[in-house]
Amino acid sequence: MVDLVIKNGTIVTAADVYQADIGVEGERIASIGHDLAGQEVVDATGYYVFPGFVDAHVHLSLPVGDVVSSDDFTTGTIAAACGGTTTILDFITPQPGQSLQEATIARRGEADGRVAIDYGLHLTAVDATPETLEALPELAAQGYTSLKLYTTYDMRLDDEQFLRLLAAARECGLLPLVHTENHAAIEYLKAGLLAAGKTGPRYHPLSRPPVVEAEAANRVLTLAGLTGTPVCIAHLTCRETLAAIEAARARGQAVYAEVCPQHLLLSVDDYDRPGFEGAKFVLSPPLRDRSHQQPLWRALANGGLQAVSTDHCPWTFEQKQRGRDDFTQIPNGAPGVETRVPLIYSEGVGKGRLSLNRFVEVCATGPARLFGLYPQKGTIAVGSDADLVLWDPEKEHRLTQESLHMNVDYSLYEDITVRGYPVLVMQRGRVIVRDNEFVGSVGAGRFLRRGLFRL
Ligand code: URP
Ligand code: ZN
Ligand code: ZN
Repeated sequence: MVDLVIKNGTIVTAADVYQADIGVEGERIASIGHDLAGQEVVDATGYYVFPGFVDAHVHLSLPVGDVVSSDDFTTGTIAAACGGTTTILDFITPQPGQSLQEATIARRGEADGRVAIDYGLHLTAVDATPETLEALPELAAQGYTSLKLYTTYDMRLDDEQFLRLLAAARECGLLPLVHTENHAAIEYLKAGLLAAGKTGPRYHPLSRPPVVEAEAANRVLTLAGLTGTPVCIAHLTCRETLAAIEAARARGQAVYAEVCPQHLLLSVDDYDRPGFEGAKFVLSPPLRDRSHQQPLWRALANGGLQAVSTDHCPWTFEQKQRGRDDFTQIPNGAPGVETRVPLIYSEGVGKGRLSLNRFVEVCATGPARLFGLYPQKGTIAVGSDADLVLWDPEKEHRLTQESLHMNVDYSLYEDITVRGYPVLVMQRGRVIVRDNEFVGSVGAGRFLRRGLFRL
């Protein structure tokens, strides 16, 4: 007899949909079958049983200038759990003068003991000095097996730095995750808009149009072709970047990409909301016009995109006021870690855009595979961690700020009622969420030493 049995649910993985019981022994799935006996039984009749979902791109307690994103490792991971996410990946970003190893120790110090779910960390390279390059193999061996690179912001790298880092990543088995926007073009466009007195949030997307994103993606992919490095494009938003990826794949390159719910569901129209409301939607790359959304959904459905991440980076409305008179000063980013899975289920599966299997693939299995967590995370299989989500496909939930747990005073989806919501979330065999209430313990989440990139 196992410790716990989840009975009569419909198990959904990236490959299958079937009825069976799941036996949990300690922290792992020990058996899948029929008529299993357990000391404790959870009845999942009428529910889907999904693997715990994986969000591979969040920014908790992210310092930007004089402000810090409003969810910390505790509030952000509790909110993630309430939305069905049991694993997140955040970032190690060296501050000026700090080495990558020092930044790693500091970031672990911020997270360990404060997380409510399991987590991993991407490295970020902000330079390509010999010290940084030499640090990579050891950090990769310690489970930091992905490398964030930027083409814009203060952390941007030039082409020579990209070449050195891409080559080093290939050598160490690190997967680069790249934010692609052409920095010079953004600066040029911003200056022109401000000089013309165009200072409101609605001008944010005009300062970073699709071609600005696609140019940088195309350049990074060209450089990655020279070094022979697989690359994942972060938070892709538009047809033009999809085309750059398809062109690189046609050249024989291994290219992966993630997309975020906001770019599938919201649009430039949101920048025109009255008052300063549009500031809530200032994130980068920006929201696009709706014509980009169908190609993105189609790529998600047909395998062109591998993961849905959130880029969760919330700022309170008060923090957003920094850019009241100048949109370029609005802190970039938006909340999303809690709403990702319900939105993709409701808008994807519920509206016939994604199959159940594909939904699990892009929200759990795909990100786990890309970032060295599979099959410990991202699937339901004997030996995998017992991270499980019992999902009521009929449960409706209006995504109001009051009903959510993220530490931010608004929701981007106030008017949206999703159909399908988690009713119980389990991490490594322990119930951590029941009926939209966190019942786990802060500090029980663990750091995940991830495997090297291989697909
Ligand atoms: O606007 C955004 N996305 N802020 C977070 C940092 C980033 O670019 O991923
Ligand atoms: Zn980014
Ligand atoms: Zn990000």
